[in-house]
Amino acid sequence: MKRRPLIAGNWKMHTTSQEAKQLASAVIQAANKVSGRDVMIAPPYTALAAVSTILSGTGVILGAQNVHWEEQGAFTGEISASMLKDLGCNMAIVGHSERRHVFGETDFMINRRITGALQFGLVPVFCIGETLKQREAAQTLKVLEDQVRGGLAGIELRDGARIVVAYEPVWAIGTGKTATETQAQEAHSFIRTLLADIYEKNIAGQIRILYGGSVKPENIDILMQQDDIDGALVGGAALKAEMFERIICFQ
Ligand code: PGA
Repeated sequence: MKRRPLIAGNWKMHTTSQEAKQLASAVIQAANKVSGRDVMIAPPYTALAAVSTILSGTGVILGAQNVHWEEQGAFTGEISASMLKDLGCNMAIVGHSERRHVFGETDFMINRRITGALQFGLVPVFCIGETLKQREAAQTLKVLEDQVRGGLAGIELRDGARIVVAYEPVWAIGTGKTATETQAQEAHSFIRTLLADIYEKNIAGQIRILYGGSVKPENIDILMQQDDIDGALVGGAALKAEMFERIICFQ
């Protein structure tokens, strides 16, 4: 089954609202040069409103970098899915490795965040991935299985387009080290098999699985040629307009 590719930029804790507006304008121009693919950008919360105005009426999707599970309440520092929807967001990254490893988010919290996103019609971009230590100890598949089953526990899905999964090996994020296309394809195909076990095969076939971790102009084409790689979640290179444009224009 052919899935529509998705190239997503995770801006992390970068850009003032002015810088964000400029970068968003460049992304719109880049996205206009190609068709048949989706482009999403996830600026910091502080720039969402400004970027939302710029993106309005263009096909570029606005995403957030996280989302809380409750609609409102005493959760200092958190943002709810309904608040994000109100600003024009359609997607939210959940379970990013920096959230897991720097901020101690667990599979349980990530599961709740995914539930919250789905409840309010935001598409979660659910991130998973093993550390170098886990890969070297041959635990990659086990770690991925635990993260997928933990993150999706109790979540019903009738339409695979409602969720996106991102495989991001922790050792490849921001390190310049990319998984080889073979390593990535192997992980993606394993994840799809797991998804088929949890949901139905046709739903698993609809779910887009992105690769993330040092995606750059030099490796995007070969990654996108793999059967189970449906797009990319891009960090560093998403902050450089020309680099991100080349990634969006993958062949
Ligand atoms: P990177 O980050 O492209 O800078 O490795 C990817 C990510 O953290 O999503």
